[in-house]
Amino acid sequence: MSTDRRSFLSTIGTAFAAVPLLSRIGYAQIRDRATRVTLDSTRYRADIDRRLFGSFLEHLGRAIYTGVYQPGSALADRNGFRTDVIAQIKGAGVPIVRYPGGNFVSGYNWLDGVGPKDKRPTVLERAWNSTETNQFGTNDFIDWCRAVGTEPLLGMNFGTGSVESAVNYVEYCNMSRGTKWSDLRRSHGYEQPHNVRYWCLGNEMDGPWQIGQLTSRDYGKKAVDAARQIRVIDRDVRLIACGSSGTNMPQYLVWDREVLEECYDQVDGLSLHAYYGNTPVLTGNNIGRYLAMNLDMERQIAEAEAVCDYVQAMKRSNKKLWLSFDEWNVWYRARNGAAVNGNRAVAPKLLEEVYNLEDALLVGGFINTLVRNADRVRVACLAQLVNVIAPLVTNDTGVLRQSTWYPYSWGLKYARGRVLDLHIESETYPIRAAGLQADFARNAEVPFVDIVATLNPDNGEACVLMLNRDADSEREVVLDWRDKTPTRVLACETLTGTDLKAFNTFEQPQRVVPRTLESPRPASRMTFKLPARSYTVMHLATS
Ligand code: AHR
Repeated sequence: MSTDRRSFLSTIGTAFAAVPLLSRIGYAQIRDRATRVTLDSTRYRADIDRRLFGSFLEHLGRAIYTGVYQPGSALADRNGFRTDVIAQIKGAGVPIVRYPGGNFVSGYNWLDGVGPKDKRPTVLERAWNSTETNQFGTNDFIDWCRAVGTEPLLGMNFGTGSVESAVNYVEYCNMSRGTKWSDLRRSHGYEQPHNVRYWCLGNEMDGPWQIGQLTSRDYGKKAVDAARQIRVIDRDVRLIACGSSGTNMPQYLVWDREVLEECYDQVDGLSLHAYYGNTPVLTGNNIGRYLAMNLDMERQIAEAEAVCDYVQAMKRSNKKLWLSFDEWNVWYRARNGAAVNGNRAVAPKLLEEVYNLEDALLVGGFINTLVRNADRVRVACLAQLVNVIAPLVTNDTGVLRQSTWYPYSWGLKYARGRVLDLHIESETYPIRAAGLQADFARNAEVPFVDIVATLNPDNGEACVLMLNRDADSEREVVLDWRDKTPTRVLACETLTGTDLKAFNTFEQPQRVVPRTLESPRPASRMTFKLPARSYTVMHLATS
């Protein structure tokens, strides 16, 4: 076969491969520059579980110490919690926070972090080579969650930790009284059980970097053993098994299948993790490729669903697993060398990624993908929340909102109720690029405009979240409402700018912030323009 014919056939293959993914997300390709969206309140994909907009705090770098906990600071309350940080997170309404790791959890002895603070040991933390004082532990985290108004999602140590210690941890947290571990909690001043509902059975146990890495079969057996015992303590818990820790893992999907073959009946959800970056290898600094990466996340979700459903069918099970995308974000700059080695310091500066405008636009894309997949993704965590690959950064005098804060906070604030099953016609562009590592659908056609919409049946309010991937031009959007009529534009804001690499600093905190977009007239057909390279939210009242 000649090279030309081979490349022709592979192009055809790619084009065909792209179609199901685009149609799966409600897209039809057109040549018209305007994007046309049909919205019908009777056609919806899912009711959103608010846990879709969760986040993550790991004992890593300055996330806990000086991030959320800094006793002695003028900004701290009597528990040592940073009140300025609490105000941001509480104000945004973050629904669930995963803790204490991450890689950290695989070497963590939870007993070191409970009881009187002066008795807690200082230990060498081996995942990030830091010094862990244990001055903040599980009970402190639960207190912090209450202060913030969020729900805890606790991780168990499946690395150095035994099944026994994981089960004891659940007993310590959730059993009311009268047993060794529940009474230990009570002796620590917590009379009432914490009733932690969501638990991760370990973290990234497929990773060679993970303390105590396991094979899929060994992990699955350990998960099933722990889960059986945990359910004796508390039948209401929701247990999340470790899925593949990334699509680039050699055992990607095989790991998931084999783990689920072992523990399907005993778990409720499967975890997915992914980090993205505008790297030379993946994008060649091509903004069109970079802003398409949320479609990689889309594909990963589809593939995890397929494996879950395959194992369900093989087991003739009635139970459908949901997905927990409990680590996702942009992370590629502060990812090696000094940025990941704590050098035995307390609260070293680690993974302090500085986010720019283009990162924020992509984070908007991830929010869209998660909303679009809310039928299957019940829990998701932006990794992480403060200082470590985070939208919030602290110094001794205050807290800074990075660019990525804004799309995340719009999801939190506006995406409520039901996810509408949209029909979208949009022009597409190719992201094939010679010499770059294939990504979305192995090099596909990407819609210029990415749109999701929610409708809250309780109050009739709708939210439309839109990513314009076109770096050079504004794009017209036509919203065609079938059965509802927008009566008022409650908010219309956009995040855009001329410099995709611009970022906020404590000195210049307003370089990347949203601005108000001129509101279109509310009507059953609404036509407006999205600025080039922008992420936009429109919040509407409907009749
Ligand atoms: O979030 C940073 C790290 O990324 C987590 O500790 C780990 O789970 C993942 O590899």
